[in-house]
Amino acid sequence: MKKLNQMYEGKAKKVFETDDPSVVLVEYKDDATALNGKKKGTIQGKGAINNRMTNHLMKMLEKNGIPTHYVEEINDRETLVKKVSIVPLEVIVRNVAAGSLSKRLGIPEGTPMRRPVIEYCYKCDELDDPMVNEYHIAAMGWADDRTMADIAGYALKINSILTRYFHEVGVDLIDFKLEFGVTTDGKLVLADEISPDTCRFWDSRTHEKLDKDRFRRDMGGVEAAYEEMAARILGD
Ligand code: TMP
Repeated sequence: MKKLNQMYEGKAKKVFETDDPSVVLVEYKDDATALNGKKKGTIQGKGAINNRMTNHLMKMLEKNGIPTHYVEEINDRETLVKKVSIVPLEVIVRNVAAGSLSKRLGIPEGTPMRRPVIEYCYKCDELDDPMVNEYHIAAMGWADDRTMADIAGYALKINSILTRYFHEVGVDLIDFKLEFGVTTDGKLVLADEISPDTCRFWDSRTHEKLDKDRFRRDMGGVEAAYEEMAARILGD
């Protein structure tokens, strides 16, 4: 498939048209941002790790009955995916209190919770992706009730599959962010990425952070954390 015009450049990825109108090419960058773009940097090797890890996990999820946008990995940084219209929501699933939940509710990071929590944020950079609930989503028409029921069902199933999968490589899946889209033929699929940029991974034994929080919080050892996750998941 031919790589044609660039359609879009995001904070971590570029998207190109291809000669198939139902397929786009995603190119992962090493650029990193945090605090909604206010903090900028580079994480050497991140693009390739996130591309390969995302593809590996999407293929595994497909085998477990989750429809995804994945089509084919072209090389370390480029992947063909189904063209989707993105549901304008960040779907966050949490197993252990951390990050913004800990801040908002005053619950120390690392506190286990009785059951997973799903949160939705409206994707809007100018507003810093504000948290919304199902009533806002239905009222604004961002997604219909059927789509939201499917999204919540998939999110919880993905959480069970991934939690078990990461546990086997000695990693606790603390929380993560998903995005969903609707393909040109009207099917709801998992889109975007699943990587150390979009998940909190803590070593099960030492609780060491193996994700982008090392960049967000200036902890150092950022590249090493991404490489450690690549080693555990991709066997690099
Ligand atoms: P939070 O605790 O900052 O709300 O983040 C929850 C999870 O979602 C965490 O694993 C990081 C991920 N996330 C993103 O992937 N993109 C975002 O823009 C935000 C705010 C969080």
